[in-house]
Amino acid sequence: MAQQSKLTLSVIKADVGSVAGHNRPHPDLLQQAEACLAAAKQQGLLCDYRVARCGDDINLIMTHSHGVAHEPIHRLAWDTFMECTKVAKRLHLYGAGQDLLADAFSGNVKGLGPGVAEMEFIERPSEPVVILMADKTSPGAWNLPLYKIFADPFNTPGLVIDPKLHGGFTFTVLDVKKKATITLACPEEQYDLLMFLGAHGRYMVKEVRRKGDNEIAAVASTDVLSEIAGKYVGKDDPVCIIRAQAGLPAVGEILEPFAFPHLVEGWMRGSHHGPLMPVPFHQANPTRLDGPPRVIAAGFQLNEGTFIGPIDLFDDPAYDEARRQANVAADYLRRHGPFEPHRLPLEEMEYTTLPLIMSRLRDRFTSVG
Ligand code: F6R
Ligand code: MG
Ligand code: MG
Repeated sequence: MAQQSKLTLSVIKADVGSVAGHNRPHPDLLQQAEACLAAAKQQGLLCDYRVARCGDDINLIMTHSHGVAHEPIHRLAWDTFMECTKVAKRLHLYGAGQDLLADAFSGNVKGLGPGVAEMEFIERPSEPVVILMADKTSPGAWNLPLYKIFADPFNTPGLVIDPKLHGGFTFTVLDVKKKATITLACPEEQYDLLMFLGAHGRYMVKEVRRKGDNEIAAVASTDVLSEIAGKYVGKDDPVCIIRAQAGLPAVGEILEPFAFPHLVEGWMRGSHHGPLMPVPFHQANPTRLDGPPRVIAAGFQLNEGTFIGPIDLFDDPAYDEARRQANVAADYLRRHGPFEPHRLPLEEMEYTTLPLIMSRLRDRFTSVG
């Protein structure tokens, strides 16, 4: 039998300018992104594409046959965001080009500002995929849901009753401070894993694989803009690709963790804890104190590399209660004003203006030791 060719699904995202502060991209930017990707499809570089947005971030969702970290695909994304930046500058949009941290493309968008989640796999006879996109938060926001989806039988019945999931999954976790990864297997290393995942400001799930055959199941963007830039330039507003069904978690098992609007880092000035609110596409417009943080879920079927979809998966009254609880949590947290734990601890704010304030006041501390 002939070797089946592999498909790559790449999601590359950036905030390159928005309307009314950091709220949403202008439709002309989305149109520009569509035009760039349509041309790349025409030329045969892309198999197919979709352009999506969550809050002020533009997500380029692309399929192709070139593998992950393929230079022409990354260059296409970079050039697309540059073209969108030109439109944003012409319209005097806010934060035009804000996530493009380098002056020129140098082989791979990783480290240059945009967020990247990519995976390569052989498309199954039926290939359902969920793409999660969030705004006003960081990749650590995926830790709790990914843990629940792939390691918690109270969330995912399939871990108990589907023999194909029963063997468990491996999690590769990135230590963003040390720039090192560790891979831990569940269920046997569950407690070790939680040690790290609970500290979601520092440790972030990079990918999840099915243990038995090492099949890729999920991959998240783990690019930390502040670590890249050396100063605060906004939160990373992460994306995550998850393959579903037939030996992997069902779409419903993937969405279930979001019925609990857990607290994440981000929100106003990237410096606050707030609930992650699951919303339909048209409600991904963070306005209350630039938030609270939002997540959308786009469902697709792949058809020989082309997209059927997206389906707006949180457009369901079943998530009304999560949205209500998110509002209650937001109210409660807001009443703390500038006090922790609503405001992030100082070490998490090291890339804000805080160091400047500290350096001004340093001499006024009197030692009592
Ligand atoms: C958070 C975010 C916003 C901005 C805030 C201040 O990720 O994008 O909350 O941090 O609106 O923005 P600047 O400093 O651009 O005025
Ligand atoms: Mg912005
Ligand atoms: Mg954003």
